[in-house]
Amino acid sequence: MKKNVLLGITGGIAAFKMASTASELTKKGYDVNTVMTKSAQEFISPLTFQSITGNPVHDDMFSPPEHYDIKHISLARKADIVLISPATANFIGKMAHGIADDLLSTLLLATEAPIYVAPAMNTNMYNNNIVQANIEYLKEKGINIIKPGSGDLACGEEGKGRMPEPEELCEYLEFGLTQKTLDGKKVLISAGPTREALDPVRFFSNYSSGRMGYSLAREASFRGADVNLVSGPANLAVPLGVKIDKVETAREMYEHIIKQAEDQDIIVMAAAVADYRPTETKREKIKKESRQDFSIKMEKNPDILKELSEISSPEQFLAGFAAESSNIEENSRKKLKAKHLDLIVGNDITKKDTGFESKFNEVYLITKEDSVHIPSKTKNELAAVIFDKIEELQNLGFSGSDNNA
Ligand code: CTP
Repeated sequence: MKKNVLLGITGGIAAFKMASTASELTKKGYDVNTVMTKSAQEFISPLTFQSITGNPVHDDMFSPPEHYDIKHISLARKADIVLISPATANFIGKMAHGIADDLLSTLLLATEAPIYVAPAMNTNMYNNNIVQANIEYLKEKGINIIKPGSGDLACGEEGKGRMPEPEELCEYLEFGLTQKTLDGKKVLISAGPTREALDPVRFFSNYSSGRMGYSLAREASFRGADVNLVSGPANLAVPLGVKIDKVETAREMYEHIIKQAEDQDIIVMAAAVADYRPTETKREKIKKESRQDFSIKMEKNPDILKELSEISSPEQFLAGFAAESSNIEENSRKKLKAKHLDLIVGNDITKKDTGFESKFNEVYLITKEDSVHIPSKTKNELAAVIFDKIEELQNLGFSGSDNNA
C-alpha cells in the first residue's frame, strides 16, 4: 500500500516551493495529503496542491466531511509521516505550547506519526531567543527539526532561514519512512575513485563517480546504522546522517579504512581503488622538453579488501564489488573466494548506460551459495536490494563464515 505523507503548509513565502515538493513526492509514489493554514493560502492556492497530488486540500476544522469522519482525527491516523514546511515562527510557537486552534495544529496533537518541521523565516526571526527556545523544546519532545539553509532570503537579507530545496525535504521524509532494520549497527563504506599523483598537476585515476558507494551509505543510514563513508574524490552531496572521511590516494583510503575496521558490523568496499601508483611523484611539473616519449614506473597499492579479510573477525560482514569487462560471474566468484567475502557485487563496466558514471547499475549478487542477476535499477534502488541481501545473509548466520579461511 502507498505510504501516506501529510504536508502541513503554514504562511511563509517559501510555501510556493512546496508545490515542487508535493510533485516530487507524488512522483515517488506516495499518497500526499495537504493541510494548509489560512495564511499559507495567501501565498499559494490550495488548487495547486489538489491538482498535483490528486487529493483534496484541507484547511477547515468545521467544513462538512465528504465521508463520515472527523477530519483532524482521520488525517492524523492516516499519516505515516508529517512534514510541516515552511514552518513559521508563529506556528512553531503554537506547536511548542500545544495550542490547537486550527486544523493543522489540532491534528499534530492527535497524530502518532513522526513529525518533521522545516523552519523558514527571516534570519533575525530565526535567531530570536524565543524562536530558538521553542525549536529546542520541540527537539526535546521528539520532533525532528530540519535545519534551514543559508543564503539570500525573500526579505532581501542574507543568512540562515532558507527552506531546504524539495529534494532535501524528500530525503528527510524517506529517512523518516525507512524501517530501522540496521539500528545499532556500525557500517563502513568506501566510495569513489582514488587519485595517484604523477606530478603537481597530473594523476592516474578512473571513471568511478562514487554514486554506488554514496547510495549504499545513504541506504544504511536510512536503515538506522551508524555509517562512516570513506570517499575518494567525488562531486556528490553527503547523504543524511552519514559521517565522511575524504581521501585522495589508495594509501590514504587504506589507512582510514583499516583504522576504523575493527568495530564495524558491516564493511562494503565500493571504491574503485587504483591498483598501482607511480613509483615516484615528481615535485616539479614534468616538462615536455625535447622528449618524444617516456615511461612511468608503477608500483602496487595495498589491496584493502584482501587485508580486511585477513584481519576481520568471523562476525563481521564483508562485501566487495567486482568491476569486470568479461565473464562477470566467473571473475567475480574468483574475487569472492580470493578475498574471503560474504558477498560480491559483480558489474559489467563495458555497458554504456549502467555502471561507472551512470545513475543506473545492473549487477550480479554473488555469494558462496548462489548468484542472482539484478536488472538495471537506479543506484539508490540497487543499494536497497544489496542491503536486503546483506540483512538476509546476516539473519541466516552467513556473516563472516569464511573469513580468515
Ligand atoms: N579493492 C581494494 N583494494 C585494491 C583494489 C580493489 O580494496 N587495491 C577492492 C575494491 O573496492 C572491490 C574489490 O576489491 O571491492 C574488487 O576490485 P576490482 O578492481 O574489481 O578487482 P581487483 O581485486 O583490483 O582485481 P583486478 O583489477 O585484477 O580485476
